[in-house]
Amino acid sequence: MAKHLPHGTHTPVLIIGAGPAGLTLSHLLHQAGVDSIVVERRSRADVESTIRAGILEPATLELMRRTGVGERVDAEGIPERGIEISVNNQRTRIDLEGLTGKTAAIYPQHEYVKDFIARRLADGGTLLFEHTVTAVEGEVVSVETSSGEHLSIRADHVVAADGSASPWRAQVAGLRARHEYPYAWFGLMVEAPPTHRELIYATHPEGFALISKRSDTLQRYYLQCSPEDSPEDWSEDRIWEQLHRRADSEGITVSEGRITERAVLRFRSAVTEPMQRGNLYLAGDAAHTVPPTGAKGLNLAVADVQVLAPGLVRAVQTGERDLLDKYTELALPHVWRAQQFSWWMSSLLHAAEGESPFSARRRVAQLHSVLESEAGRRFLAEQYVGTRAQEV
Ligand code: DHB
Repeated sequence: MAKHLPHGTHTPVLIIGAGPAGLTLSHLLHQAGVDSIVVERRSRADVESTIRAGILEPATLELMRRTGVGERVDAEGIPERGIEISVNNQRTRIDLEGLTGKTAAIYPQHEYVKDFIARRLADGGTLLFEHTVTAVEGEVVSVETSSGEHLSIRADHVVAADGSASPWRAQVAGLRARHEYPYAWFGLMVEAPPTHRELIYATHPEGFALISKRSDTLQRYYLQCSPEDSPEDWSEDRIWEQLHRRADSEGITVSEGRITERAVLRFRSAVTEPMQRGNLYLAGDAAHTVPPTGAKGLNLAVADVQVLAPGLVRAVQTGERDLLDKYTELALPHVWRAQQFSWWMSSLLHAAEGESPFSARRRVAQLHSVLESEAGRRFLAEQYVGTRAQEV
């Protein structure tokens, strides 16, 4: 599918990165009649198998359905009608559906990516895997193929959607607001039956644990760990002992099985402002990173391109830049709300190393205030399912 592009090919929009932001954007542009080329450094197999988070907000699901990519998520995604918050092994259910009228879905990010790749290819889209962008100079984008050939592509607009390490962010030269967290997650994939119907977010004096799921036979668990930890620091015995200690509760025992994947995930918050300069735009993790709690990253990337796509379409089709020039202004309020929620949920549920007795008791009291109040549960539910508009 690596189409052979003639040197000097022109495209209205060149997208760097075939992740959720880049692929969704390319699909939305196509539906509005605007061509794009997606350039991705990694192989298709790699992109389609990288394990990431797995929660799709209702607005993301709605976009998939409305634009003809919802068939598989509707058949295979697991509806998420509620979540459980466990505080020192006592659970409170947050009725997402009852409190918001909406449900999210558990559907791994790489499945989302597979659906959009398949759809772009079926629609005749140009996706260049194993191609690396080496320079963006105005409208000229230099690309190197895996066999070392050099291509030059002319693009009216260039979107960097190539993740948190995007080298193109420096060319936007924005202000980078950052926050570091004194904890990380140790992510596990486990061949086991589901522990419970719903996800369990558990906080415990020894740390946080998240009991998520993937299927009837595969489960996704996370344990709070130190940012300095490596997977070798965690023996099987320690993993299971800590999962049970932190996340078991009345009637629920974390189900055990063979561990097939172990990785440490860093916690970071960062936002770049502005998200554009000239004809270069940042989308998704290239512009901002959220910590994993609440799984907002993919949804935020999709929210960005829902704002960026209409601006690009208008600029390409009419030459009017008014909407495109407002991309940052239109995208940022949502970015900061997601940032705030991810920070809040992380801070409520994690015991920072060396947390003082005062902070620990205060944190648990705050959690109880939220969980015991209907207004508190509703606030949590609304933020968790997402607050962005469901219409583009
Ligand atoms: C998952 C990840 C999250 O960060 C989260 O909040 C919920 C679920 C997951 O990978 O399943």
